[in-house]
Amino acid sequence: MRPRRTQSGRSSGSRWAVPALLVLAVAGSRGATPAHAPVIAAPGVANPAHIAAGGLPPPGPVVRNPYRGESAIARAGGKLFVSMHCSDCHGDAAAGAVGPNLGDGRWRYGATDAAVFRSIYFGRPRGMPAFGGVLGAQGVWVLVTYLRSLPPPADQPTERFSRH
Ligand code: HEC
Repeated sequence: MRPRRTQSGRSSGSRWAVPALLVLAVAGSRGATPAHAPVIAAPGVANPAHIAAGGLPPPGPVVRNPYRGESAIARAGGKLFVSMHCSDCHGDAAAGAVGPNLGDGRWRYGATDAAVFRSIYFGRPRGMPAFGGVLGAQGVWVLVTYLRSLPPPADQPTERFSRH
């Protein structure tokens, strides 16, 4: 929804910004934290693949795959991919079915291990279930290691295989 415009042309949301800042400034000067102080969210996970505005990366832990490049783990991940029914939606060898191809080197949500981890762990809005609850972080990393081990096909198809 777009913010409603007031007659002065400023968005109605900004009307409260100045009073809110004043409340904070007054509360701060008394040295006490008021009960109604806004909760500041914990910093998110840093993604080194993103461009940092002003060259200043935001603080936050960097997520790394503990099994990166381990071929035995990648093979185990291939079995887990079938036993967890990932292949029911993503096809055999992750080549795409109702879910997108996961082996073509193209990633809708980012081409890093951390982004692939987040897709599997937390799910994605257009039909990807969250598996973090059943698999835990370790199980998800095993699947990430498998998917990242798939060699991109030499002949890259350009058509879409699914509506997603
Ligand atoms: C019920 C069908 C279904 C199952 C089961 C499923 N997926 Fe998905 N998956 C999808 C769909 C649909 C999308 C696209 C979601 C979107 O675009 O928001 C997706 C997206 C993804 C993505 C993000 C792809 C990208 O381009 O960034 C990854 C990674 C993924 N799935 C891995 C898995 C793994 C691993 C499993 C098994 C643990 C699995 N999926 C099980 C349907 C499924």
